[in-house]
Amino acid sequence: MRITIANHKGGAGKTTATVNLAAALAELDKRVLVVDMDPQANASRRLARPFDRDAPQLTASEVVRSGEEGVAAQAIAPSGWPSPYTELVSVLPARFDLDNRVSEAGTVGAVGRLRRALQGVDDEYDYTLIDAQPSLGHLTQMAFAASQRVLVVVEPEYDSVEGALRVRDFVKGYAQDLGQPDLRVLAYLVNRARRVGEHAFQLEGLADRLEGDVWTPHIPEWTAAKDAASSALPLQICGSARGPEMATLWTELAKQIIVEGAA
Ligand SMILES: Nc1ncnc2c1ncn2[C@@H]1O[C@H](COP(=O)(O)OP(=O)(O)OP(=O)(O)O)[C@@H](O)[C@H]1O
Ligand SMILES: [Mg+2]
Repeated sequence: MRITIANHKGGAGKTTATVNLAAALAELDKRVLVVDMDPQANASRRLARPFDRDAPQLTASEVVRSGEEGVAAQAIAPSGWPSPYTELVSVLPARFDLDNRVSEAGTVGAVGRLRRALQGVDDEYDYTLIDAQPSLGHLTQMAFAASQRVLVVVEPEYDSVEGALRVRDFVKGYAQDLGQPDLRVLAYLVNRARRVGEHAFQLEGLADRLEGDVWTPHIPEWTAAKDAASSALPLQICGSARGPEMATLWTELAKQIIVEGAA
């Protein structure tokens, strides 16, 4: 199953969710492919596969430019995480020039290029998680067109909830046009939750507002998330005091992907 992780708002925790869910699914013995569709390439770096000018490798940029069926196989690499993650988590990395694909959006069939590139390639993985940029433009549309489901990461703040609503409405409005009529939002994940008035206010009635499933547990704002991100290691082994505790929260969410994603 292919799942795009999205929110129109930046910084909600899309990449954090992508990377931590990949680790959690691996800990549940699932094979995961992470596709980095953000020119910021944060997911690639956090999976310890940053672009190296001295040892250039194929990335999502070249894969999408080609758009040939199955071409993604040439760019997929194991994550740079230690064993056993490295055997279970692979990555189709990105680099900044993925942005150059946007100007090709008008060419025939452009939105289907990632879908074609992944065709037959990710069958061996249990889950393909696609990290989207904070935009509903061409790169995210290609991700949606390649996916069956969307997970929306939302911070319990006004602008982030608005960003989530825009994703929901976009998916509803354009699934058919993207050639993916069964595309739908699987669930909303709450990230960076804090005990402040605004967050309590936003969380109250959030499911009604989003008209969807808001999964629990909510992920708190903890330093461990940043420690894992900056050390490019899974939470469980990043050495941060609350890393393992935070990892168990992602495991709970990953279990719901396994159960409800199959429904
Ligand atoms: N639960 C959390 N607790 C603490 N820090 C967090 C948490 N979630 C994310 N962060 C930090 O917030 C920053 C933004 O997170 P992240 O990069 O995952 O967001 P994003 O939605 O992918 O951003 P962008 O829109 O730029 O792609 C990062 O520095 C990340 O480490
Ligand atoms: Mg990101």
